Amino acid sequence: MSPRSPSPAAAPVARLGDLAALRAQVRAWRASGEGVALVPTMGALHAGHLALVRQAQASCRRVVASIFVNPTQFGPSEDFSRYPRDTERDIALLAQAGADAAYLPDVAAMYPPGFSTTVTVAGLDAELCGPIRPGHFAGVATVVTKLLLQCLPDRAMFGEKDYQQLQVIRRAVRDLDVPVVIEGVPTVREEDGLALSSRNVFLAEAERRAAPAMHAVLREVAEAVRGGAGTAPALAAGRARLAAAGFGPVQYLTVSDAETLAPLDRVAGPARVLAAAYLGRTRLIDNVAV
Ligand code: PAF
Repeated sequence: MSPRSPSPAAAPVARLGDLAALRAQVRAWRASGEGVALVPTMGALHAGHLALVRQAQASCRRVVASIFVNPTQFGPSEDFSRYPRDTERDIALLAQAGADAAYLPDVAAMYPPGFSTTVTVAGLDAELCGPIRPGHFAGVATVVTKLLLQCLPDRAMFGEKDYQQLQVIRRAVRDLDVPVVIEGVPTVREEDGLALSSRNVFLAEAERRAAPAMHAVLREVAEAVRGGAGTAPALAAGRARLAAAGFGPVQYLTVSDAETLAPLDRVAGPARVLAAAYLGRTRLIDNVAV
């Protein structure tokens, strides 16, 4: 499900190129008594991001989306340089979705020389993607904390597709008393179940055909463990099915506590099935509620 091409008739989106412009805009909205929602993004927008904008509009009069490809959340061998970037297309899509402003800080302004503060959410970053992507969640928590403090929105929207990221952000905001409500937004999927991701453009045709198997496996595991059966057999069957569909390596397929992300042998409360695996050179992650 790719977003419609930008419509020329869409209302213009204010471009806020630096922190002073962001703060002046938010101050003006506040002076008129208008609530503000922030949708943090790294650009390469798709229908999943536009769902975040729509949810933001449902709760606040004004919506600002940030577009910032954050270097500190990419490891040295990850895809920072090949991460898709097309700001003009992104802004046209934001206009079409009805966002009011795009905040477009640059790397030098976000991380000036001497920048030396990091937000680390201990524990949550020891699970799942944490050990596989060292430093990733510290990069996310740090940039999101900065964006929240820069904008001081009433609410901020994040997709459930990056479920561990959502939990890390919720915990950082809670621990640091950042005055914002964090809203999780359900994953938007293609008709065949593939979760929308900016990285899906990297999938070759055969990989794209194989990719929906991840969502199918997650659902099967969720179904199998829902009644309290041990998780191990369903996870073993799921891993085998992912391998048979062409995924490899499968970095994890787990059933985890929905808040702490600790792996579960058996489900007794809110839980999530989560997976990360490569299809060719592209790393896919996804999750579903049990
Ligand atoms: O989910 C993303 O796109 C990024 O991790 C975020 C939250 C915008 C921080 O850079």
